[in-house]
Amino acid sequence: MGFGFGIIGCGMIAKFHARAIADIRGAKLVACFDSFPAAADRLAAETGCRAYHKLDDMLANPDVDVVTIGTPSGAHMEPAVAAARAGKNVIVEKPLEITLSRCDKIIEVCRQNKVKLSAIFPSRFHDSSQEIRRALDEGRFGRLTMGDAYVKWFRPQTYYDGGAWRGTWKLDGGGALMNQAIHSVDLLAWFMGPAVEIRAQTGLIAHERIAVEDTAVATIRYANGALGVIEASTAAYPGYLKRIEIHGSAGSAVMEEEDLVKWDFAKRGRRDASVHEKMQSRKSTGGGASDPAAIGHHGHTLQFRDVLDAITKDRDPAVDGAEGRRSVEIILAIYKAAETGRSVELPLASDPTLKARKLDKTAKGK
Ligand SMILES: NC(=O)c1ccc[n+]([C@@H]2O[C@H](COP(=O)([O-])OP(=O)(O)OC[C@H]3O[C@@H](n4cnc5c(N)ncnc54)[C@H](O)[C@@H]3O)[C@@H](O)[C@H]2O)c1
Repeated sequence: MGFGFGIIGCGMIAKFHARAIADIRGAKLVACFDSFPAAADRLAAETGCRAYHKLDDMLANPDVDVVTIGTPSGAHMEPAVAAARAGKNVIVEKPLEITLSRCDKIIEVCRQNKVKLSAIFPSRFHDSSQEIRRALDEGRFGRLTMGDAYVKWFRPQTYYDGGAWRGTWKLDGGGALMNQAIHSVDLLAWFMGPAVEIRAQTGLIAHERIAVEDTAVATIRYANGALGVIEASTAAYPGYLKRIEIHGSAGSAVMEEEDLVKWDFAKRGRRDASVHEKMQSRKSTGGGASDPAAIGHHGHTLQFRDVLDAITKDRDPAVDGAEGRRSVEIILAIYKAAETGRSVELPLASDPTLKARKLDKTAKGK
């Protein structure tokens, strides 16, 4: 069975979507749309697909079975909802959206229209993440004690100045956490299970003309009793590989970008030898530590394949809407905890009101 893809939002990440689609046998990029027509024309010229200048026209194309959405983060909902209503399966870039109510709208409309929805978190599909998930399922960590994420990245001021939507609450939905560290927040939530309490501090320390945080620290208490920290920054020159640490009473694993760098368990496991062997040959992709475009597309390829398999077998994609919403909720709780100086309990009953959102107007000079 062949699948036609359409891309909505033809900027930086769309190129990675196009490469991922090209890598999948039986998948073809047939259409693209951008609210800036020249961007769609450019991607179409590069890939050989058809550029559309009206979203409805693209969605009326019966050859489009799946759309991928790479518009700015706070502009994911409208095209996702339109695509679902047109009967297309929907793959949405991270974050699924920037508020819970906007996430919920996407989830609900996809459910009503019986189309598959997946939120893009390519790191989940990397071997190292799958290896940790398997060890967790086998109970190899014993009692989980700590789950930490360190995302000390760097973005120059030109990164924020170069895109009107970057660093705004309205369209970026936050800074180092909502845009950059969300991949790690998602992995932590997947590995450690639900978070129940957050304390946090955030700051805009080394960048100008943005409204959101460039540095954040948070502590987490998980439902299983374990504790953890999240440290995120886009102001840690030159930018280091992101790290996830999972510790328990019977084992520890540390992942640096896509590579496992620690894999120590009290009891030997049948996969340990192959994991240790893999640890000798690091992939060492930059993972966007200092350059957003220095990422690979193989995680996207694996995730797109999962979605196609989910469509074929009529099952939920591995990262469905509810999974995509989890990291957004944790990050919003961090923002609330930082703003109030109080601990915030999860799950959140609704979107927290954030006074910080008002800062957009002054930051970008509007
Ligand atoms: N998974 C990853 O590793 C990864 C990496 C980078 C970006 N992203 C995500 O991808 C999304 C886009 O980021 P980017 O860096 O490609 O941004 P970008 O600014 O390079 O591209 C966004 C594109 O969307 C278009 N656009 C804006 N509003 C639109 C609308 N309503 N309808 C159609 N097109 C519209 C713009 O004209 C632009 O071409 C963001 O949500 C970001 O968080 C994910």
